Amino acid sequence: MAESDNVNEYHAANRARWNHGAEAWAAMHDRRGTWRVAHRRPEQVFLPQEIELIGDVEGRRVCVLGSGDNLAVFAFAGMGARVTSVDISVEQLAVAQRRARELGLTIEFVESDVSDLGCLPDASFDLVYTGGHVAVWVSDLRTYYREAIRILRRKGLFLINEYHPFRRIWKGEESTLAVAYSYFDNGPHEYLASRDVLDKAQGEIKQFEFHWTVSEYLRAVIEQGVDLIRFEEIGDEAEGWEGAPLQGLPQKLLIAGRNS
Ligand SMILES: C[S@@+](CC[C@H](N)C(=O)[O-])C[C@H]1O[C@@H](n2cnc3c(N)ncnc32)[C@H](O)[C@@H]1O
Repeated sequence: MAESDNVNEYHAANRARWNHGAEAWAAMHDRRGTWRVAHRRPEQVFLPQEIELIGDVEGRRVCVLGSGDNLAVFAFAGMGARVTSVDISVEQLAVAQRRARELGLTIEFVESDVSDLGCLPDASFDLVYTGGHVAVWVSDLRTYYREAIRILRRKGLFLINEYHPFRRIWKGEESTLAVAYSYFDNGPHEYLASRDVLDKAQGEIKQFEFHWTVSEYLRAVIEQGVDLIRFEEIGDEAEGWEGAPLQGLPQKLLIAGRNS
């Protein structure tokens, strides 16, 4: 799979970040082992609310954007869907391809920036799924979701499950909450990260993050003519990897829309 040159400087840096990080990300998922069972136990991958919205996808065409660990991809494949897995990182896709072979799953893997899905035709999917920390890497949320909806057929489902934006604004490694960024500051927030994506220490890998507000998420969906069918904020537990004590803040932002 060849890398596309047609990406902006932020996405090129983030692609390199994930290419460097793929090995550690894969090792973490090997330790957890969820990828081995995702195709048999979709309830370990999706929230009950998502399972309800997804319904019966047997034989349906599903596209997962920013597929990363590919747990959602494997779960959809196990539910009988014909799945396309899109990610900007060839290394992330290589791990997923290897795992799909091991699991005996047939999946189409596509290397692409989610802001330019030119390789995928209009109205070709019944369901487009994205989230779990993808929008944070994307410099233009509207273009990303416009593309997602372009490839969705009429009445198709657009399903987003993102890390809640209220969790992104705090200083890390503090015992009490201290604001690091205004909630309204989209960024780019530039970091020098370690090659190992799990290592929080500063390193030499440049990455750019983007913070979107709840209303920006909603507008980016509704402005494309999608009918909002569900909008929910879910969970309030601390997640193990977070530096700041975020218990009590909403964890996930679930948005579902039907293409008109
Ligand atoms: C934290 S993962 C999120 C996906 C999944 N939930 C996971 O935990 O692995 C972020 C993924 O988004 C991908 N990504 C980042 N920017 C992207 C872009 N502009 N287009 C497509 N994929 C992108 C990265 O390569 C990475 O695999």
